[in-house]
Amino acid sequence: MTTPLIDNPAAFCAQYGPWAVIAGASDGTGEQFAHQIAATGINCVLVSRRHGVLTTLGETLEKTYGVKTRVVVLDLSLANAGIQLCKAVADLEVGLFVSNAGADTAGKLFAEGDLNTWHNLINMNVHNPMDACHILMQPMIERGRGGLLLMGSGQAIGGQPRTGVYSACKGFSLNLCEAMWTELKPLGVDVLSAVAPLMHTPTLHRTLGDLAHAIPGVLDADYVVRTSLENLNIGPIYIFPTGIPGDDHEAIMAARKQRIDNVLALAKAMFEGG
Ligand SMILES: NC(=O)c1ccc[n+]([C@@H]2O[C@H](COP(=O)([O-])OP(=O)(O)OC[C@H]3O[C@@H](n4cnc5c(N)ncnc54)[C@H](OP(=O)(O)O)[C@@H]3O)[C@@H](O)[C@H]2O)c1
Repeated sequence: MTTPLIDNPAAFCAQYGPWAVIAGASDGTGEQFAHQIAATGINCVLVSRRHGVLTTLGETLEKTYGVKTRVVVLDLSLANAGIQLCKAVADLEVGLFVSNAGADTAGKLFAEGDLNTWHNLINMNVHNPMDACHILMQPMIERGRGGLLLMGSGQAIGGQPRTGVYSACKGFSLNLCEAMWTELKPLGVDVLSAVAPLMHTPTLHRTLGDLAHAIPGVLDADYVVRTSLENLNIGPIYIFPTGIPGDDHEAIMAARKQRIDNVLALAKAMFEGG
């Protein structure tokens, strides 16, 4: 049984420090990631669209935990924002990348939503996190340590009406995380897809209004973030209760982990000749 590194701040810093980049850091789970990561002593790059909120958060983190912070204002739904983000942190030794921003607030049928809306959602959940992972993992591989944590969703498990593109994006993210984990874990770099449940975040409350309080089983952001960080050095996925009737999240997680073992053996035979 692997011990969560987050329980040992010095070991957590050694694996994921000295800088973390949190994409979508200004509220909800992103703000929680910033607090919980800074509490271990890791400096934080805070990324989102709202400069004022990020600056205030940065000041709080510096005062509370004695870490350094950098604010990067970026619209992560735009093309090439992942590459721009990496340019903005190129002078830093980044040991941890958290891709948090990604919610679908449209609530539209696939046919109703315009293509621009869907393209922006794909940029935020697919193109930009993929580009940032690809760029940021290179020095991590060279150093033989680091971590990539992508916020997923229970919707990655299957397509749903009114969130078709979103669930497709989260499916991409989940599969990419599983694959990256198999490739990077032997090199010392950890990967986690946090397959998130419904959570009390400002975005959910803006999207659903009072309904957010009426739905049973909505979890608090600080608990989801803590559990995700506990699983970062275990990986490759942590599936929270999805809230979908009939979904046994423990069984789905166990089956996917077993499948990864099976795929590894097959891939070894196919690409390495046994
Ligand atoms: N909340 C839930 O119930 C739920 C359920 C399952 C999965 N998730 C996943 O959990 C993650 C966090 O969700 P969330 O509910 O907190 O909502 P979210 O809107 O994905 O995240 C909020 C954070 O992302 C930033 N952000 C949003 N759009 C951005 C953009 N275009 N460019 C830059 N930053 C942007 C926001 O800052 P600014 O407004 O300052 O830009 C804020 O810091 C997402 O990946 C989501 O898919 C959420």
